Amino acid sequence: MVKISIESVDNVNIFEGLFVIGLDESNKDLNYLKKNTKLMDALNTHKFIHEGHLENIGKFGKNIILYMNDDDKIIKIMLLGIGDGKKLNEDKFRQLGGIISLKSKELNFHNVIISNFYSSPTNVESIIEGLVLSLYEFNKFKEDRADKSPPTFYENYSVSIITTDDSNLKNEIEIGKIVNICEAVFYARDLANSPPNVIDPNALANSAKTLEKMKNIHVDILNQNQIKDLGMNGIISVGKGSENEPKLIIVEYNNSTASKGKPIVLVGKAVTFDTGGISIKPSDRMDEMKFDKSGGCTVLGIMKALGNLDVPINVVAIIPAVENMPSGSSYRPGDIIRMYNGKTVEVLNTDAEGRLILADALAYGIAKYSPKYILDFATLTGACIIALGTNIAGIIGNDDKLVSKLVSLSRITGEKIWQLPLSEEFSDLIKSNVATIKNIGGRTGGTITAAAFLSHFVSDVPWAHFDIAGTAWTQDGTADKSYNPKGSTGFGIRTIVKFLEENQDQ
Ligand code: BES
Ligand code: MG
Ligand code: ZN
Repeated sequence: MVKISIESVDNVNIFEGLFVIGLDESNKDLNYLKKNTKLMDALNTHKFIHEGHLENIGKFGKNIILYMNDDDKIIKIMLLGIGDGKKLNEDKFRQLGGIISLKSKELNFHNVIISNFYSSPTNVESIIEGLVLSLYEFNKFKEDRADKSPPTFYENYSVSIITTDDSNLKNEIEIGKIVNICEAVFYARDLANSPPNVIDPNALANSAKTLEKMKNIHVDILNQNQIKDLGMNGIISVGKGSENEPKLIIVEYNNSTASKGKPIVLVGKAVTFDTGGISIKPSDRMDEMKFDKSGGCTVLGIMKALGNLDVPINVVAIIPAVENMPSGSSYRPGDIIRMYNGKTVEVLNTDAEGRLILADALAYGIAKYSPKYILDFATLTGACIIALGTNIAGIIGNDDKLVSKLVSLSRITGEKIWQLPLSEEFSDLIKSNVATIKNIGGRTGGTITAAAFLSHFVSDVPWAHFDIAGTAWTQDGTADKSYNPKGSTGFGIRTIVKFLEENQDQ
């Protein structure tokens, strides 16, 4: 088990772990350390400054490891550059936390003591998040025996974060909660990273079913016939070409009896593999389309976190899970589909499948649950990558207050999102001559036409749509961040859990 604690300096034996000292690039004389004579004695830091060891260190993320002799004892020190201390923000603290973990993993130091380059509780929370998130490993297919998962460094890692005074840090920071959220991110990353021959719609549903072990969670899995009987022909059509039948995963978390306890509904796109179908994709990097289930995995991660944290709120997750394959039974360009809410869709490209399954799930969520808000998460458009790149997700909605709230939370969590406009001109682009709408809107503004399509299925419920095509996994252009190892990022979970905590009913 990972063990993270906040300790006052007197309770820590600095000889017992890697001792991390943050160095501000503009504060190389270590004034803040000098205040603590006990540390200074042990570190004998002056000697190092005068020997010029600190040259060039202090730059953000740069670090050197020193081994010092104190009598007959060795002290291991990591001098960690924090850059310009005035420019530190929560994401930088998160990255520093990750750098500490990755370095200690590289050196196989299982105990770490972090001294104070942080000041507020939020700083420390971010450091803890970074410490944990960076140690995620997807290694379950690396061994030649399926029953043998190699132990990860994370499972046997112990960190003490020290405070010099008896500040409130210890009481204010809920370490267990942060670790829980990070482990929910691990769960989502595991699912999203899993290959498409392992996680098909049925396997995803089985994984969701395991959430039922948690308090207040109930899981329903609808099979192909049930989906058909409900009239969700968007989901049925997209899933038709695959041998693996579609599933509709519904996870209800009920933990509020307050009168305004209307649920918040979360919808996540889970295309366990997107070949494009008959409008088949080019083969180059098609393997990455295993990540096309990321929206659904994010939503499952959120539900897992809620279950663990016991947040007093009602939330329903609806995850349409399908595989988009080309075959004799596939849906085709030219098909016209009558959707769950009765609207008809002319299919002009079977690769624009995400909006079809989301549309049914959104309309169903609204009809069945009359939610307070509805949020959806989807790796929906390549156009979002062109517009915003691979470090910022797009957000589009019909309620600016809701969107602004989410954008401002994302500034703290480091899961960057940027609002795109749902301007009415885009609706004209998806008008069809033969149906209510068509499923593509031409080459321009692809992320917005996709959202305009979805807006036909949300009526006037406050709604926000996250296009996570660029941010759900690390790809071309993704900034190197210690806390996002290669592969799935679990993007969105931390922001939405924060949002839901702030929206609790009691
Ligand atoms: N899953 C893709 C979107 C995608 C592409 C996400 C690349 C991440 C990386 C989606 O189903 C899709 O294929 N969208 C098409 C829509 C187009 C046909 C209107 C796209 O973006 O090309
Ligand atoms: Mg597609
Ligand atoms: Zn897709």
